[in-house]
Amino acid sequence: MANGRRKISVIGAGNVGATCAFVLAQMKIADIVLLDIFEGFAKGKALDMSQNATVLNYDGTVTGTADYNDIAGSDVVVVTSGFPRQPGMTREDLIGKNAEIVAQVGTGIKEHAPEAVVIVVTNPLDLMTYHMQQTTGFPPERVLGQAGVLDSARMAHFIALELNCAEEDVSPMVLGGHGDTMVPLPRYTTVGGIPITQLISQERIEAISARTASGGGEIVKLLERGSAFYAPGSAAAVMAESVLNDRRRVLPASCLLTGQYGLEDVYIGVPCVLGANGVEQIFELELTDEELGSLQTSGEFYKKQLADVLGY
Ligand code: NAI
Ligand code: 2OP
Repeated sequence: MANGRRKISVIGAGNVGATCAFVLAQMKIADIVLLDIFEGFAKGKALDMSQNATVLNYDGTVTGTADYNDIAGSDVVVVTSGFPRQPGMTREDLIGKNAEIVAQVGTGIKEHAPEAVVIVVTNPLDLMTYHMQQTTGFPPERVLGQAGVLDSARMAHFIALELNCAEEDVSPMVLGGHGDTMVPLPRYTTVGGIPITQLISQERIEAISARTASGGGEIVKLLERGSAFYAPGSAAAVMAESVLNDRRRVLPASCLLTGQYGLEDVYIGVPCVLGANGVEQIFELELTDEELGSLQTSGEFYKKQLADVLGY
C-alpha cells in the first residue's frame, strides 16, 4: 500500500541484514524492504518482523522479496549480501565470491534505485565498497562502507570494561581499513572528554587496540559458524538513519579518498559527516608520523588488493 513514508532497502536477509532491518524497524523512520536471493528467507524474516510490530510498537512496513522492482524509490540501500568468514579465514579470503555478489547487487541497485545512498557492509569491506561504487557508477559520496562505527564500538566497549565506566561516555576513534591494518587512535579517544592516554597505561592501551583490531576474529572463533551481526547490523542502521534524516552525524566510514591523508583512489575508514547526500565532508585529522604511516600502510594494502585481485 502506498504511503508517504521513506524507504530503506536492506540487501541480504542473513544475520547482519535481518539485524539491520530489525533495528531500523524499531527506529520508525521508514518502510523497509528486505531482499535476498532466497525469496522465502527474506519473506519469512519480514513476516516475523511485521508480526513483531504490535509487540514492540513500531509502524511502517517490512517487506520481504527477491525482486529488485521492490527496492524502487529507496532513499538508502544497505548491502549485506555475501559470505561471512569462517574460523581460519581472513576477510580478504572472501573477495572472489563476494565480488560476484556485489556486482550482481550493484547492477540491481543502479537500475532500480538510482538515487539511493548505498551503505556497503559486505566483506572485505573497503574493497567491496570500491567495487560497488565502480559497478553502480554512482558519485563516490553516495557509496560508502560500514566498518568504523563497529570497530570504534568494539574499542569503546573494551575501554568501558577497563575503566568500569559507562559505555556512552566513551568517544572512540578507529580509522583505516576493516582488517588487520585498521588503525585505532588512542590519542583521539576520550572518556567524558578526557583523553584515554591520561587514564590508561600505554601497555593496556596497546592491548585494547590489539583486541579491537582482532575483534571480529575473536567472535568468529567463538561462534564457530559465521561472524558477528548484532553490532554490525546496528552500526549500519545508525549510518542509514543519519543519511535518511540528514542528521549529519560525524562517524567513521569507508570513503573514497582523493588525496586526503596522502591517499587517493582507495576506500578506507576516515571520519566524515553523514547526511542526505551520503558523505558530506571528510575530516582530516592531524596525525603523528607513526599514525599517518599506519593509515597509509592500510590504504596501500587495499590499493594493491584492488589492482592485484579485482583488476582495478
Ligand atoms: P549471512 O550468510 O547470514 O547472510 C548473507 C545473506 O546474503 C544470505 O541470506 C544470502 O542468501 C544472501 N545473498 C547471497 N548472495 C546474494 C545475492 N546475490 N543477492 C542477494 N542476497 C544474497 O552472512 P552475514 O553474517 O549476514 O554477513 C553478511 C556479510 O557482511 C558478510 O560478507 C560478512 O563478512 C559481512 N560483515 C561485515 C561487517 C563489517 O563491519 N563491514 C561485520 C559483519 C559482517
Ligand atoms: C567483523 O568485524 C567479520 O567483519 C566482520 O565482525
